[in-house]
Amino acid sequence: MGLLTGKKALVSGVANPRSIAWGIAQVFHEHGARVAFTCLESTQRRVAKLAAELDSDLVFPCDVAKDEDIARTFEKVGEAFDGHLHVFVHSIAYARLEEMSGEFLNVTREGWRLALDVSAYSLVAMARAARPLMKAAGGGSIMTLTFAGGNRVAPGYNMMGVAKAALESAVRYLAYDLGPDGIRVNALSPGPIPTVSGMVTQGFEESLQFTTTHSPLLRSITPRDVGNVAVWYAADISSAVTGATVPIDGGMGLLLAGAAAHPRARKPVSERP
Ligand SMILES: NC(=O)c1ccc[n+]([C@@H]2O[C@H](COP(=O)([O-])OP(=O)(O)OC[C@H]3O[C@@H](n4cnc5c(N)ncnc54)[C@H](O)[C@@H]3O)[C@@H](O)[C@H]2O)c1
Repeated sequence: MGLLTGKKALVSGVANPRSIAWGIAQVFHEHGARVAFTCLESTQRRVAKLAAELDSDLVFPCDVAKDEDIARTFEKVGEAFDGHLHVFVHSIAYARLEEMSGEFLNVTREGWRLALDVSAYSLVAMARAARPLMKAAGGGSIMTLTFAGGNRVAPGYNMMGVAKAALESAVRYLAYDLGPDGIRVNALSPGPIPTVSGMVTQGFEESLQFTTTHSPLLRSITPRDVGNVAVWYAADISSAVTGATVPIDGGMGLLLAGAAAHPRARKPVSERP
């Protein structure tokens, strides 16, 4: 314990207690980090209550589609943290529902723009704003959340898959630019987790169930599982890791399409002797 003692962290993307970012913030706190939050204004009161559970009163509203919000947020973070920031978690994504159903072929110009802006460009804009605070701190760690649907076809993930591909590429280019400043940039790639954003994805329940019967670990993934890897990225013990994407999927990505259920999976109730 205490891998993050003395670290100042900004966590984005907490909307409610199911958010992956909330699992990350909890584990950061347990490891001794001071955690500030940034969230949409519409969720600010709820996030402030959660933040208080981690002894934090630092909650800054920010719509990442607005440059002025990003600038103001990092200014406030600088004031609260004496000009220093060690860790930034980007856990934000958005696509319109019509861009996440039916044929990908029907994606609209506006739907494409919106999803790429909020889900991928925002990482670049926020990394740029974090840079001076992290340089002042002697280096830092930036991480974002992606999904395997950015590399392969996850039916229905559609526009968000394209946004995740852009996001993962941005991670590599940012890692290249910021490495000389001692700032590392990485991605976390969890399997399906029942959050508000996750559950609207077509076929979500089936893929959640699938991980419990097919993945080597025979269980689904929790926000705290993601938080544990996030601590590793945030801590000095991963000091030479940058531009990486770690799957947190119970080994699901090892399987070929069409793989049968794991022979040691618990059978559905209806098939048990
Ligand atoms: N849930 C899953 O199965 C899963 C799997 C892999 C990756 N992810 C990724 O994890 C990240 C977090 O998602 P989650 O599953 O915790 O769901 P969530 O709905 O709890 O989090 C998404 C967050 O994005 C924020 N957001 C959306 N538009 C915004 C804007 N314009 N400005 C600021 N914030 C905005 C929301 O307020 C919310 O806090 C996303 O990038 C998502 O794609 C989720």
